[in-house]
Amino acid sequence: MFLTNLMGIKDKPVEMQKAWLYEEHGPKEVLRLGEFPLPILKHNQLLVQVRAAALNPFDCKIRQRPIAPIELPAVPGCDMAGVVVEKGSGVTKFDIGDEVYANIQDSSSEDGKLKQLGTLAEYIAVEENLAAKKPENISFEEAASLPLAVQTAMEGFKTGGFKEGQTVFIVGGAGGVGTLAVQLAKHFYEASLVVATTSTAKVEFVKSLGADRVVDYTKTRYEELEDKFDLLYDTIGTIFTTFQFICILEEFLRAILCDTENSFVVAKDNAPIIDITWPPSNPKAIYSGLTVSGDILEKLRPYLESGKLKAVIDPTGPYHFVDVVEAFRYLETGRARGKVVISAFPS
Ligand SMILES: NC(=O)c1ccc[n+]([C@@H]2O[C@H](COP(=O)([O-])OP(=O)(O)OC[C@H]3O[C@@H](n4cnc5c(N)ncnc54)[C@H](OP(=O)(O)O)[C@@H]3O)[C@@H](O)[C@H]2O)c1
Repeated sequence: MFLTNLMGIKDKPVEMQKAWLYEEHGPKEVLRLGEFPLPILKHNQLLVQVRAAALNPFDCKIRQRPIAPIELPAVPGCDMAGVVVEKGSGVTKFDIGDEVYANIQDSSSEDGKLKQLGTLAEYIAVEENLAAKKPENISFEEAASLPLAVQTAMEGFKTGGFKEGQTVFIVGGAGGVGTLAVQLAKHFYEASLVVATTSTAKVEFVKSLGADRVVDYTKTRYEELEDKFDLLYDTIGTIFTTFQFICILEEFLRAILCDTENSFVVAKDNAPIIDITWPPSNPKAIYSGLTVSGDILEKLRPYLESGKLKAVIDPTGPYHFVDVVEAFRYLETGRARGKVVISAFPS
């Protein structure tokens, strides 16, 4: 395959590229920086030179266990922002040189398989319907942080039938999905009351995202809260809490203190209880997944351009491409503030 002389890329035959990959499932130590073949483009795909990527708990879960069909060796990563360097013959919406961003992993694709080549690589292939043009006012790092988390955040409100002006209680306002759910509740749905939970050190941070009130789950139990809400939106669930159990005693205590399973007590009678983790945290909860599509990103463009919706990058990052294992280590503490982003890709 030949890459054209665009964006400083030299005319040279390129068949292999640098990528993070794993050949067996397991902890982050199975990851290694190696070489992976460049993809052969399908008619509806873009070849994108990755400028920034973001990590998601899903990347950890699928690396740890084969929870979805994927061929090994696999390159992890769903989210990216970058520049189009080639396009398939059927691509109509994008041109070479366009700055784009996407969640490239659509498990509802024809074969139901995840792409073997994820976004922690120099170049990736993505179907044009999954991508959107990057708003000019946001950086590659900010754009890369958004797709999977914002698609999930939006889907939760849709699944819960949330309507403009209603009230919402968000369990977990500080994480990748939670930071966006708080902002969407306030600025997209113009909710009349947005209350979110977090631990003490992040209370002011979650308020700064637009939450009307923030509940410090290390000090307040759900039963002590007086308001009842039109939607209970759980971004933490029990799986995630269990995930934290394996860490240290502090996490054990947090899990007992926050007791996310009990959060339903703040929902109004018959109000939907949405949980984005599987299995849902209590029998009344409805699981909400995500729709992987560039259209959702386009729909949110005016909010990103006006600054009503802001990407939130964890302050420990962006991590350099060579520090991917350290970035995963940090994400797996369960304490990320917004999104863990990787940038400074090799090419
Ligand atoms: N259904 C789907 O399609 C879908 C899509 C995306 C994500 N998910 C799942 O949703 C979960 C969250 O994803 P994420 O990307 O937002 O994770 P994340 O960014 O790693 O979340 C980290 C945040 O969780 C907060 N947190 C941890 N325990 C908490 C608790 N008990 N109460 C309140 N906040 C708590 C932490 O804040 P503190 O330090 O203040 O506790 C931290 O800021 C994961 O299990 C992920 O796999 C599902």
